[in-house]
Amino acid sequence: MAQAQNILNIPQRDDSQRQRHLSVSTSPTATFQSPQSSFGGALARRGVPKQLKPFNTQDIKILLLENVNQSGQDILTSQGYQVEALKTSLPEDQLIEKIRDVHVIGIRSKTKLNEKVLKEAKNLLVIGCFCIGTNQVNLDYAARHGIAVFNSPFANSRSVAELVIAEIITLARQLGDRSNEMHRGTWNKVSNKCWEIRGKTLGIVGYGHIGSQLSVLAEAMGMSVIYYDVVSLMALGTARQMPTLQDLLNQADFVTLHVPELPETKDMISAAQLAQMKDGSYLINASRGTVVDIPALINAMRSGKIAGAALDVFPSEPRANGDYFNNSLNGWDEELRSVSNIILTPHIGGSTEEAQRAIGIEVSDALVRYINQGVTIGSVNMPEVNLRSMTSEESDYARVIFIHQNVPGVLRRVNEILGEHNVDKQISDSRGDCAYLMADVSNVQTSDLREILDGLEALSSRILTRVLY
Ligand SMILES: NC(=O)c1ccc[n+]([C@@H]2O[C@H](COP(=O)([O-])OP(=O)(O)OC[C@H]3O[C@@H](n4cnc5c(N)ncnc54)[C@H](O)[C@@H]3O)[C@@H](O)[C@H]2O)c1
Repeated sequence: MAQAQNILNIPQRDDSQRQRHLSVSTSPTATFQSPQSSFGGALARRGVPKQLKPFNTQDIKILLLENVNQSGQDILTSQGYQVEALKTSLPEDQLIEKIRDVHVIGIRSKTKLNEKVLKEAKNLLVIGCFCIGTNQVNLDYAARHGIAVFNSPFANSRSVAELVIAEIITLARQLGDRSNEMHRGTWNKVSNKCWEIRGKTLGIVGYGHIGSQLSVLAEAMGMSVIYYDVVSLMALGTARQMPTLQDLLNQADFVTLHVPELPETKDMISAAQLAQMKDGSYLINASRGTVVDIPALINAMRSGKIAGAALDVFPSEPRANGDYFNNSLNGWDEELRSVSNIILTPHIGGSTEEAQRAIGIEVSDALVRYINQGVTIGSVNMPEVNLRSMTSEESDYARVIFIHQNVPGVLRRVNEILGEHNVDKQISDSRGDCAYLMADVSNVQTSDLREILDGLEALSSRILTRVLY
């Protein structure tokens, strides 16, 4: 610990003042590389992006927990960072011990980064959630201590869309029931109420990342697509946006839900909406469990109104794998299991090797951009701030990053300090109590950087100062 601090020259965070900084290093390593992602390239409007040298990158310590995909590990190690990757999460006491020493931590859903743990993370700059959700992290505490958090909300969209396509055919042909019967030794060859999907209408509720992807796939299989969304969105292919949910429910043979979990989407499909659906139609929910009123669905299926359903998500879901899908979970689970032509899956819509790989790449790219360039695009707890890259022709430039409390008068004081120098470009934004300023300054020498750093460090609103050059 002490050794790492000496090399990096990063003082421990003083929690009483909620302040810390990274000092300018004069010993960049030859292994330093700027981000290789296409995003990094797009940032450079002129010339080759400059390789910024905040500190000796070989000394950046990263802890990856919960078996983060190899794709993500490779991106981080190729930067020259020290990466320790563990296959599991850690008990809290071991997590606290380890987090004290690292600048970056990568987790998935099982690691809880609460205030107690983050308080010990004196050197932590950034958290990568190699998953969709971020509710395992105290985002507000992290922001107030200058720790950015990144995740990968959309990397598994294709996986969900493909699952839904499979379910449409499976329901139309009653494949789940036929397969279960064969497993029990019963040969039951039927064509009654089994359909091709060609020419049928798919109604997509929520035309976002997943819904729009699904639209393209469904049309390729000969379905006609209608969709409903609260936002007016451009249709892909020959899909048509419906003015109301009721219009969609009246016309669709298959209804599939792809909306977020919001107060407005709770029980969005209940008895009244099921009654508006066509007789013998099908319902698919791979969005969030709260969106469908399940007892109402059970009734609609028992009456024959709904001919089949596929559910991947449930209001309450078990935390671990095991024999948990019984009435102690939601109260109606066993009744649901007994309904015919219903596909029940354990929230696997986005669970594919490809999605894990994409998540690894997206989150690691975001971490590298943040560490090397200070860019916060995609952060879930900091204002999203971006400046085009400095280029290799700009040799006497430095990038100043000042994370501070969002209080009146700060920018004037910051600009008094930067105003002594030639500010080439500057941006700042705020999110709640936290504000993020990034400025590129030209014609600066190491002594100027020291002066800028000391000036910013002295401001009472300071949370974190970084200088990259
Ligand atoms: N089953 C899984 O494993 C899995 C995996 C990934 C995502 N999901 C879930 O799928 C859902 C959709 O994900 P996405 O990535 O497509 O999200 P997205 O944010 O890209 O799209 C959601 C769309 O829903 C629309 N919308 C919001 N409220 C609406 C309302 N009341 N009525 C109609 N439309 C509304 C939005 O305008 C947006 O276009 C989310 O709930 C997400 O949590 C599930």
